[in-house]
Amino acid sequence: MAFKRWLLLPLLLLLSVQASAAIYTKPQEAKVQSSVFLSPKFILTPGLANNTVYLDIDFPKGHIAVKDFIAELVDEDGNSVPLYETYLHHWIVFRYFVREDDKNGSSIVVARNDGVCQDGALDFYFGLGAESRKTRTWLPDPYGIQVGDPDKIPSGRDEKWALNVHAIDTRGVEDRFGCTECRCDLFNVTKDSNGRPIRDNYLGGLSCCYDGTRCKRNEGLKWLGARGLHLKYTVKWVEWDQSIVPVKIYIFDVTDTGERRNSTSSQGLIGCQVEYDVLQSCSEPKCIDNKKVSIVMPNGGNVIYGAAHLHRGGAGSTLYGQDGRVICDSVPIYGRGKEAGDEAGYVVGMSTCYPEPGSMKIKDGETLVLESTYNSATLHTGVMGLFYILVA
Ligand SMILES: *[C@@H]1O[C@H](CO)[C@@H](O)[C@H](O)[C@H]1NC(C)=O
Ligand SMILES: *[C@@H]1O[C@H](CO)[C@@H](O)[C@H](O)[C@H]1NC(C)=O
Ligand SMILES: *[C@@H]1O[C@H](CO)[C@@H](O)[C@H](O)[C@H]1NC(C)=O
Ligand SMILES: *[C@@H]1O[C@H](CO)[C@@H](O)[C@H](O)[C@H]1NC(C)=O
Repeated sequence: MAFKRWLLLPLLLLLSVQASAAIYTKPQEAKVQSSVFLSPKFILTPGLANNTVYLDIDFPKGHIAVKDFIAELVDEDGNSVPLYETYLHHWIVFRYFVREDDKNGSSIVVARNDGVCQDGALDFYFGLGAESRKTRTWLPDPYGIQVGDPDKIPSGRDEKWALNVHAIDTRGVEDRFGCTECRCDLFNVTKDSNGRPIRDNYLGGLSCCYDGTRCKRNEGLKWLGARGLHLKYTVKWVEWDQSIVPVKIYIFDVTDTGERRNSTSSQGLIGCQVEYDVLQSCSEPKCIDNKKVSIVMPNGGNVIYGAAHLHRGGAGSTLYGQDGRVICDSVPIYGRGKEAGDEAGYVVGMSTCYPEPGSMKIKDGETLVLESTYNSATLHTGVMGLFYILVA
């Protein structure tokens, strides 16, 4: 592999010289390529949850800069599926390395983002949930997420991509929003996916809506049929060249306790917990749940993009700098109608931040504060308070 790379080097140099010469006549945006892919099909019946990891998914080849990653659920005819029929709990895309001759996947190593959570938590490259359709993810010029760089792929390994899709069919269920919040009572679950008993005060969340669990159906609607679904995803990218400024991906979590240990421990998650519950609580005149955490950013830079990930009930999320300045403020967009992308009562998008490049710097070692706010008029189980930023 290393040998092959040396042979290619003169050719690559030649190509990159040509590419940078072309910059002056052609802006990057004119060279953007776009590919639409479908995940493997999965089949849902009313109430059923499917949570599957697909290895080696289709992805643009070569040394490229990803400019955008857009995804939504579609049926077998390619029609957009509204959230009240199938709730898209999340989709996440991982980059990984695997030995070229590996037959059983035992050599897979996740190529993590630059985020600060422990190994195994929030180490994906791209990912959203119900809010996918109305959240902007486009990266402006001259920035890009660099992938496929032959110098960064360990020798003897291939770079590949994995997709995890977690969807819940809520046609004909008794309590749609209860199903989307993975209430343990509605899923009639007392053991987690590893067969361990669920602790008494765990009311809902990922441990109760794993692959194969079913949310309580309305007896009269059990006749609704099975349906095949795909995650449809669009990747926009440009061929890598020297004019592109690479960005690093950081994902912060408002539940981060600051502890760090290899996460594959039997005691569950240490550090970033990923989800939490918002208990019903009101102090007149407001019902607001406010959660805050301090997080140290090891290496700073210029913030190019920011967006939070909140579930239903979310009111907003803000990332502050050490001096109290607002780095990014992101609020949910709630749907108001019936169409896919505007489903009433669901978070269908998040507002995003695109600071003027150079205007929003984070210093090396700066302590940031992440704040997430939910409406606490009613209980919300398994909510999230994540913040995704791209830093140059
Ligand atoms: C995978 O294959 C390797 C040999 O290539 C073998 O050593 C290892 O035990 C296998 N692992 C599993 C889980 O089958
Ligand atoms: C809930 O689960 C229990 C035990 O797993 C089972 O006996 C019971 O029938 C289930 N209830 C429903 C409504 O599916
Ligand atoms: C979820 O979908 C995957 C992919 O089609 C399939 O292998 C798996 O069996 C499904 N799970 C359930 C519970 O149907
Ligand atoms: C996690 O495990 C790997 C290998 O097992 C080790 O190299 C690394 O230092 C560990 N990290 C922590 C934080 O303990």
